[in-house]
Amino acid sequence: MMNSQKILKILEHEEIDHSLIDTANSIRESKVGNKVFFRALIEITNICNKNCYYCGLRKNNKHIKRYLLSEDELINLVIELYKKGIKSFAFQTGEINNEKFIRKLIKIIQTIKRETKKIDIQNNEQTKGAGITGSFGELEKEFYEELFKAGVHRYLLRIETSNKKLYEKFHPKNHSFNKRLKCLEHLKNIGYQVGSGIIIGIPGQTYKNFVEDLNFFKNFDLDMIGMGPYIEHHDTPVFYQYKKLITSKNFYKKNFELSIKMIALTRILLGDVNIVNSTSLQSLPSINNAFELGIKAGANVVMPIFTPNIQRKKYEIYDLKKHLTFTDIKKRIEKIGFIPICDKWGDPLHYFERRFHNIKQCNQLENFSS
Ligand code: 5AD
Ligand code: SF4
Repeated sequence: MMNSQKILKILEHEEIDHSLIDTANSIRESKVGNKVFFRALIEITNICNKNCYYCGLRKNNKHIKRYLLSEDELINLVIELYKKGIKSFAFQTGEINNEKFIRKLIKIIQTIKRETKKIDIQNNEQTKGAGITGSFGELEKEFYEELFKAGVHRYLLRIETSNKKLYEKFHPKNHSFNKRLKCLEHLKNIGYQVGSGIIIGIPGQTYKNFVEDLNFFKNFDLDMIGMGPYIEHHDTPVFYQYKKLITSKNFYKKNFELSIKMIALTRILLGDVNIVNSTSLQSLPSINNAFELGIKAGANVVMPIFTPNIQRKKYEIYDLKKHLTFTDIKKRIEKIGFIPICDKWGDPLHYFERRFHNIKQCNQLENFSS
């Protein structure tokens, strides 16, 4: 087993060691196989009431145009994709912890579940409807419960860093690390498949922080991990303050290498979880094989963006947001010998192991999709 010293050494070592990738790959092979599951990512709105210092969507950034997809636009888009055989979705918003908004969201999700189940019936398929991952930030427990009842069965809430001090450095005083942890606890208790993760390579983050993060993933018993490299956004406090460092020569190369190592280490230490190949990993300036390496290092989930074109450009968490198209992603996965899967939910096996202590039992469960 790897101890903290060994992990620290791997992270500190300059290049990516190929034996690390090989080990991660063989663990992936034995724990989750070589399938890569798709979630159609729809960014419902870029409105956000928070002010994280690193993110372009922060409330105080007055230079971006805010949008909110209409109810019809969203529902029709999901139905259209579902009919084409994409069965799993991830819905994302900025954080809007507001009753009216969440009630509307719940109603939309109920409709989506109902309509997609109808399509299953027409196709003589198991009536499950769309698989839905929610990512709406920190909400009241009651809202998490209602969203779960409506059909959101996975939730992503990145802790961003598991180090409270570092968290406080990159967030204003009214953003609470403890509240974020509490939200993750609620999600777990309600029965969600719970995902979290971190930003990688924000100025000031240390290798020791990453070791703490890996321990946090393990101790919290997460089902899904989503993490990606920090990328600058020109209109944010982090960029104003650390411009010189961020624009220095090897800044992104280092973030890229760290991201790949963190994916590999997560796969090695956590085994049967789902790991996302993040959009920010695909967006790093002048690095072309990041997508492929992310998969080889252990990522088994991809989230191609299906937000309508006009709004997509406005979801500017960071500058230079690039994204591969659905078709590109599929081809690139096949080319490196993995199997893209769009028409299954692709739940994390870890969830069933954690909840029922028996992976075999998932074969009897409706939710399981191998
Ligand atoms: N670079 C990379 N990722 C970022 N996020 C926010 N800002 C940045 C950035 N500048 C990530 C956070 C958040 C998710 C929505 O986007 O981890 O949870
Ligand atoms: Fe809002 Fe999330 Fe960006 Fe923070 S990271 S400002 S909560 S969208």
